[in-house]
Amino acid sequence: MSHALDGIRVLDFTHVQSGPTCTQLLAWFGADVIKVEKPGSGDVTRGQLRDVPGADSLYFTMLNHNKRSITLDSKHPEGKHVLERLVRHCDVLVENFAPGALQRMGFGWERIQQLNPRMIVASIKGFGPGAFEECKVYENVAQCAGGAASTTGFDDGPPLVTGAQIGDSGTGLHLALGIVAALYQRQSTGRGQRVLAAMQDAVLNLCRVKLRDQQRLARTGVLTEYPQYPNKTFGSAVPRSANASGGGQPGTIVKCKGWEGDPNAYLYFIAQAPVWQQICRVIGKEHWATDPDFCTPEARLPRLAEIFTAIESWTLTKTKFEAMAILNEHDIPCGPILSMEELVREPSLRATGTVVEVEHPTRGSYVSVGNPIKLSDSPTEVRRSPLLGEHTDEILAELGYGGAAIAALRAARVI
Ligand code: COA
Repeated sequence: MSHALDGIRVLDFTHVQSGPTCTQLLAWFGADVIKVEKPGSGDVTRGQLRDVPGADSLYFTMLNHNKRSITLDSKHPEGKHVLERLVRHCDVLVENFAPGALQRMGFGWERIQQLNPRMIVASIKGFGPGAFEECKVYENVAQCAGGAASTTGFDDGPPLVTGAQIGDSGTGLHLALGIVAALYQRQSTGRGQRVLAAMQDAVLNLCRVKLRDQQRLARTGVLTEYPQYPNKTFGSAVPRSANASGGGQPGTIVKCKGWEGDPNAYLYFIAQAPVWQQICRVIGKEHWATDPDFCTPEARLPRLAEIFTAIESWTLTKTKFEAMAILNEHDIPCGPILSMEELVREPSLRATGTVVEVEHPTRGSYVSVGNPIKLSDSPTEVRRSPLLGEHTDEILAELGYGGAAIAALRAARVI
């Protein structure tokens, strides 16, 4: 079967997590992704957090599926010639170097335009233009600078970063969409363009509900669905809201049976207004269905702590899966807290290809996420990540280099 991005060639100058997330998605949609890496070492993540001596780390393998790898010293004069050919050969260049690195290499936007006016140059940077644009940025820096950390955690604790890599993988997703949009526009203009996704911008985009709450707070001085309400005072900035729901339906995390010994025996419970009657029945508080203090969403807001305590008294008598089954019978939305251990075993995720098992020549079999986006006419087959420089000769041959020229590049340590 064909793939959505068949025929699109991507010069993948990305490293670590943010950029590789983006190019892996493009590869999963069928693009030919050529990962350019420094001879000898390659993407720094190949050797980071290693669990199998001598083998590419899971950090690398899980971010670089379905790509080809060419080693190339892009600062060497001969390496620059190869890079020029690659720029002419490809449709998209994706990079997430520190600010200015591509220009220092001699491949700024103007030069790339000269070489290939149809090329789309897509970049991830920590910050957009402005005071911080020269800064190097990693995941947690972006989470802090994008508003996630100041709004995550408990009221009486410090800001917290989240396990979801919204700064890196989140920005990679944003960039992938920008690239696909630019490819679409190129069909009518015939021109490439620059695509920029700044990590701070992406995190803020993902934190938009907190920007919403900032303005609600400024207008009304209070956030009635936050755990601080009604007993604590609000400051001028959106506070950390613990596990309160980000939407219009109150929710929180409650303990379930076995929580004393299992750190994940918890359930997210949403006290959705349309099913309030059912909630009252399930937790044995039938009288709350008609009590004026509880029967309307507005009346419940100052009493959410009491309500969730009562809900927890019920969930404590059930495991998270028992509670989930009962609640779903009544259409009450809830979410069990699933550990990575549970997710890795979940058969439905294997069946859909969201979790896949991949064979690798040096590390053996490992589990990874597959493509979370399913296209009915472009199925994803996850192929292992390339070894360092595995496709160097093959790609150089496609660029027109003969055997002797390749040998000369190797002898000069350009590849
Ligand atoms: N051949 C020769 N040189 C190469 C090369 C190659 N194939 N690939 C990279 N290099 C060079 C770069 O040109 C750069 O050289 P320069 O500093 O002389 O210009 C150098 O390697 C290092 O690149 P850099 O991106 O600065 O890496 P770093 O390890 O210093 O910084 C980051 C890493 C992630 C902090 C930085 O790249 C960054 O801020 N990126 C943008 C934001 C981002 O994506 N962050 C999240 C990463 S998950």
